[in-house]
Amino acid sequence: MDIIDTSRLKAVLRYRIPGIEIIWKEETGSTNEDLFELAHYGIHGWTVLGADFQTSGKGRHSRRWISPSGGLYVSVLLRLEDESSPITLMPLVVGIAIKEAIESEASSKGGIVKPRLKWPNDLLTENGKLAGILCESTESEKGWVIVVGIGVNISPLDDEKQRQIDNPVTSLSEESDIPWTRAGLLTTFLVKLAEKIEDWQNDPDKICDTWMTASGAMGKKITVITHSGEVEGVVRGLAKTGALRVLNDSGKEIEINSSEGIIEHG
Ligand code: BTN
Repeated sequence: MDIIDTSRLKAVLRYRIPGIEIIWKEETGSTNEDLFELAHYGIHGWTVLGADFQTSGKGRHSRRWISPSGGLYVSVLLRLEDESSPITLMPLVVGIAIKEAIESEASSKGGIVKPRLKWPNDLLTENGKLAGILCESTESEKGWVIVVGIGVNISPLDDEKQRQIDNPVTSLSEESDIPWTRAGLLTTFLVKLAEKIEDWQNDPDKICDTWMTASGAMGKKITVITHSGEVEGVVRGLAKTGALRVLNDSGKEIEINSSEGIIEHG
């Protein structure tokens, strides 16, 4: 994998994202945890912290995120003050940014990768999961502090690591045989993230529309596993909060705000 040169990345990004700070570690427990700890010391928004590998990478629902060398593991601290747009859309904002960054990196090097988003924010191809997103937030007196963490499989996981994961996984190298670099992907992701946050601030409905198109989920028959049971139905779209609207088998529309998993039928 390419070496991350933080001064170079900062020089490339500082005009697009004024005030950006980039910290890189060889190894850490979890980049999300590190940033939350630093947030207590008052570090400013757009501090980016990444690591070559994580020993206690966190996934959603307290799952582990297996993070060997060969992937992109990075978190971004955002401070959002006096925002009128729903903060609950942030995982969707990040999903769109990482999907578009992967597509743009692939096409700039002559490849094609067309991942799709699965609610709320998994990035998949037909071969398995390519990337995961963990957004964690806390409210301070000055507004929201959000830590956005992304894990992207760039090199294939070895057999032993694959066996530790329940669902199929894939990686960028398996999807397209182009010279992927972490620096290239990270740069494009951060630029896209800044763009999508601006969209979220100016026109949050645009985020919902873009996300729905990028997911191809409209009209799909699904089973949603929630902590209070299963909901079967057909996807009807997103609420303004980003909740998934599902028309259940009894003809009632239900808004799903969080799920333990979604099974897609066909
Ligand atoms: C998921 O369960 O799909 C979310 C996985 C998120 C993993 C990333 S890797 C960088 C950041 N640090 C963590 O500990 N988790 C996130």
